[in-house]
Amino acid sequence: MSKIRICVAGATGWAGSALSKGIFEAPDLELVGAISRSQAGKVLGDVLDVQGLNTPIFRTVSEALKTNPDIFVEYTKPDIAKFHILSALRGGAHVVVGTSGLSDDDYGEIDEVAKGAGRGVLAVGNFALTAVLLQKFAEIAARYIPHWEIIDYAHSDKRDAPSGTALQLASRLSRVRESQLDIPLDEMQGPKESRGVRLQGSQVHSVRLPGYVISLDVIFGMPDQKLILRHESGTSAEPYVSGALLAIRKVRTLVGVRRGLDSVMEF
Ligand SMILES: NC(=O)c1ccc[n+]([C@@H]2O[C@H](COP(=O)([O-])OP(=O)(O)OC[C@H]3O[C@@H](n4cnc5c(N)ncnc54)[C@H](OP(=O)(O)O)[C@@H]3O)[C@@H](O)[C@H]2O)c1
Repeated sequence: MSKIRICVAGATGWAGSALSKGIFEAPDLELVGAISRSQAGKVLGDVLDVQGLNTPIFRTVSEALKTNPDIFVEYTKPDIAKFHILSALRGGAHVVVGTSGLSDDDYGEIDEVAKGAGRGVLAVGNFALTAVLLQKFAEIAARYIPHWEIIDYAHSDKRDAPSGTALQLASRLSRVRESQLDIPLDEMQGPKESRGVRLQGSQVHSVRLPGYVISLDVIFGMPDQKLILRHESGTSAEPYVSGALLAIRKVRTLVGVRRGLDSVMEF
């Protein structure tokens, strides 16, 4: 069987380099092209120090698409991501999006182009399988347990709060229901901030301290019992590789945009 041909935009970056090594090691996949402005003209294996990885690096998406990839992986920056994705679709490739920061409107436009081209786009905010499963398990718990709160933890120099993962979880749980508050926030005594922020029907708290990497708890409480689902990320990009490989293998079965890795997983 012929290998699936892949082009990775951002192949020299933190996330893209780990994925490129994963693709190189996978027997059914072939990394035919890479994009990076600063390393254009070089061979990816020389940049990543991987022997035998002879993939050429291109500066632009139009040059990279000449390698005829079946699948284009977008792992760069939000300011260029949509242009890359639309170009890849128009060039006949399916697209896996790891880059964060595209809006619902962006995905609406991408969906139209993808459907017109008969191609699939799988956009995944977090490829880590353990994070994907936490979200899925939390959705199930929210169907049975009406009270929950979300706590996200990160290092002290992380500027955004709450984390993208906490926001995504709140959004997904809001499709199940809003978490129940036994005492409404404006009837609480003391500073309201001590109860965190109400986002899409969940109370969300953000802790920013040295010593933490990235983790998240969602706590479901019932009388005399609790369920605590906790996700912890390490410091490497390794956790994102297996989920991205799963997305690469599934995206060819899609037409139009799908969001979230669990949309192509069986439960
Ligand atoms: N979905 C997930 O699970 C997941 C996991 C990790 C990260 N991410 C997201 O993935 C994206 C990349 O993160 P990262 O940490 O890997 O970033 P990074 O280390 O800064 O790498 C960015 C890569 O994109 C290339 N690039 C940047 N701007 C470009 C442009 N205008 N044209 C062409 N290439 C460009 C860079 O090469 P040059 O600078 O040489 O062009 C580099 O190869 C971010 O949006 C991040 O939030 C998602």
